[in-house]
Amino acid sequence: MTAVPRAAVIGGGLMGHGIAQVLALAGLEVVVHDPVPEALAAVPQRIAANLETLGIAADVRVALEPELEAAAEGAAWVFEAAPENLALKQEVFQRLDAATPPEAILATNTSVMRVGDIAARAQRRGRIVGTHWWNPPFLVPLVEVVQGPDSEPHAIERTIALLRSLGKTPVHVRRDVAGFVGNRLQHALWREAFDLVDKGVCDAETVDTVVKAGFGRRLAVLGPIENADLVGLDLTLAIHEYVLPQLDPPSAPSSGLRRRVAGGELGMKTGAGFRTWSEREAAAVRESVLDHLAGASNENGASG
Ligand SMILES: NC(=O)c1ccc[n+]([C@@H]2O[C@H](COP(=O)([O-])OP(=O)(O)OC[C@H]3O[C@@H](n4cnc5c(N)ncnc54)[C@H](O)[C@@H]3O)[C@@H](O)[C@H]2O)c1
Repeated sequence: MTAVPRAAVIGGGLMGHGIAQVLALAGLEVVVHDPVPEALAAVPQRIAANLETLGIAADVRVALEPELEAAAEGAAWVFEAAPENLALKQEVFQRLDAATPPEAILATNTSVMRVGDIAARAQRRGRIVGTHWWNPPFLVPLVEVVQGPDSEPHAIERTIALLRSLGKTPVHVRRDVAGFVGNRLQHALWREAFDLVDKGVCDAETVDTVVKAGFGRRLAVLGPIENADLVGLDLTLAIHEYVLPQLDPPSAPSSGLRRRVAGGELGMKTGAGFRTWSEREAAAVRESVLDHLAGASNENGASG
């Protein structure tokens, strides 16, 4: 292994280019692989555009590699950010397992899939872990480090140490459950949000206003468990006894969600989802999220 650790990023899309940026800014030697030539070629411009938005004047370079095995060769770290498709990820990890030095750590950025399922076709599964970065990876501090059924403790420890050294906030997810912690929480909220709209309790805009003008204001500084302790567990129990039996959470995707997807209403990228979006409105939302995250990152002194 060289003095400067070599990291390979597999998939140079939305997440992959941002993860590559964080690794390269921290001084690792980074190679990005993507089988789609246009996606691979776009990585340096995407990183340059992010740095310009953030006002970072660094000259960040990553190598581009169209072959998976060549990208993985000699890597100490591999971060996979390929499409969310189990068969594809299983094949990628089988090939990475064969192409990397045995001491390399192989990490998947899957949003919800079990690490054990993704590692199923690899031989040396002890070094395969989950690292669930959040979008945009260079602004959101959290990375969930997910322990698969075969992940060795030292692989988890090394991954957490690396992420800390990058200025991230890693957390250890001890059991390999679909959705980990963050997406189980996030999608429980989205499921209820869609269900309220499906049932006609309120419109989509009202759901968003309730969150943004209400409890969402507190969420960045007060987690749900801290909040329960703050208001008191006696009150929390009384609320749960009354309301939980009435929630009847659906165990399948919302009918309104299915109907919109079938009708080509995919959200901002098609101009309509649960709400309608002009290009200007969609751009304004994206910009305000970036501004908010960049402001929070500056306040916390986070470098990720
Ligand atoms: N978008 C998010 O907010 C987000 C957040 C956290 C995790 N994730 C997860 O990160 C992963 C990547 O998501 P994304 O949003 O960056 O997707 P994306 O579509 O922007 O990027 C995926 C990239 O993978 C490339 N690719 C296609 N086939 C490949 C292969 N066989 N091997 C390697 N690369 C291949 C594509 O060309 C594309 O550039 C997914 O598992 C996703 O669930 C996404």
